[in-house]
Amino acid sequence: MIEGTATVRRGEPAGKSVFVIFGATGDLTKRKLIPALYNLREQKLLRDEFAIVAVARKPTTDAALREQMRSDFREFATHAVDENLWNWIEERSYAHQANFDEPDGYVELAQRLAEIDRERGTAGNYLFYLATPPDYFSTIVEHIGQAGLAREEGGRWRRVIVEKPFGTDRDSARLLNRNLQAVLDERQIYRIDHYLGKETVQNILLLRFANGIFEPIWNRQFVDHVQITVAESVGIGNRAGYFENAGTLRDMVQNHMLQLLALTAMEPPTSFQADPVRDERSKVLRAIKTVDPEDVLTHTVRGQYGPGITDGKDVSGYRQESNVAAASKTETFAAIELYVDNWRWAEVPFYLRTGKRMATRATEIAIQFKRAPHSFFRGTKVEHVPPNVMVLRLQPDEGISLGFQAKVPGPIMKMDAVRMDFDYSERFGATPSTGYETLVYDCLCGDATLFHRADGVDAGWAVVQPVLDVWRALPARNFPNYAAGSWGPHESDELLTRTGRAWRNR
Ligand code: BG6
Repeated sequence: MIEGTATVRRGEPAGKSVFVIFGATGDLTKRKLIPALYNLREQKLLRDEFAIVAVARKPTTDAALREQMRSDFREFATHAVDENLWNWIEERSYAHQANFDEPDGYVELAQRLAEIDRERGTAGNYLFYLATPPDYFSTIVEHIGQAGLAREEGGRWRRVIVEKPFGTDRDSARLLNRNLQAVLDERQIYRIDHYLGKETVQNILLLRFANGIFEPIWNRQFVDHVQITVAESVGIGNRAGYFENAGTLRDMVQNHMLQLLALTAMEPPTSFQADPVRDERSKVLRAIKTVDPEDVLTHTVRGQYGPGITDGKDVSGYRQESNVAAASKTETFAAIELYVDNWRWAEVPFYLRTGKRMATRATEIAIQFKRAPHSFFRGTKVEHVPPNVMVLRLQPDEGISLGFQAKVPGPIMKMDAVRMDFDYSERFGATPSTGYETLVYDCLCGDATLFHRADGVDAGWAVVQPVLDVWRALPARNFPNYAAGSWGPHESDELLTRTGRAWRNR
């Protein structure tokens, strides 16, 4: 198969296959993957020749697995459960015990899969989903290879979905890519980023390239700057084990936020196929100017939340969360000023900010256009004409709005800011979704458009690595530096105010 060529036409059920989950007892499986598979079946996008194999280190029986799945699903289903539909999922789910670092478990897995193929007609097509801690990614793939499970012969396909994080820095990410590519062809590797599965994120491409009116002004001549905000009101929950070592820059900026930037700033691809789209995403990431070490402290801001109030409730600071070190230096907020050094975007700042325990949950991309070049309203009430802003709201309240000025009715020349607003759910209604349906379906269909390619991951690390290095060498001394429930540290505001700009806080 040629990379980027979907094996089925979109909208048809995905091909016959077995969905093999490594790390099946983890949170991701019950919260996202099983509900996503259920929703796909409900939308008639999975055919009968389908099975699920849950690989876990703890031994269990098929019956016990199914019972556990049933009770988990009651909790995490996205909407009312249809018993027949659920039975369909349950009866084709199998448990398999394996220690991830022992070859025997994989040889047995290969035999088990062959039996399931005979029983279910799944045709030897396997999707391996690595939902394990990242330390296991290379080992599992190596063993999959040794057991012959990565080999595509006689029209069968074998694919591997790898969850983030893809490495903890540029070197470890490169090593991981090398390890994966030692066993798998790049086109068999699907590095997942759930942001790319979000409807409104995909819509950025449609907005830009399926409409003729935006692209002519989508450049340095008309755009003053771009703001990308991913504000979360939640804290780190029970993820201290992971988050203490990761921090916000690795957790959110290296992947999700840079992808939002890439979709906003990329050139039009030659077609909507995996490689042309990913070529453009990678190209724009490679065009981001590396922040010089001596500029890191002036072009970036890091923060950590202290106690405060979110959603009307008192909440503790990051250092008081369970399993967080009392003097932790891990950042829970990051802001960064970046420049895309190419013909279209030279000198246009892209401001990115993201944080936990912020004032509200809001993910949006704001394109702020330049002011009108000349104001002839002098001597009237219209002295200061604010710039137009186009806001792509990704969550919640997905939609797009364009702000402009209008005259207030009456004999006096007075203006007010108004908005043209498009609201997704109002127009299309809400489809129950975990955010994983699109990506799982795409992978089952062999469409890698919305997945990261090795070069894109590397380009993302190239952007954040200098920041990581300086932040590590000069640990923050003022943590905690923002109150839970605020918009982050005041230095984040200064990042913009020093050039006369300001964050949009909704
Ligand atoms: C995950 C991060 O990738 O994305 C989390 O690890 C973060 O820390 C989450 O909370 C945000 O996703 P969403 O879909 O809720 O915006």
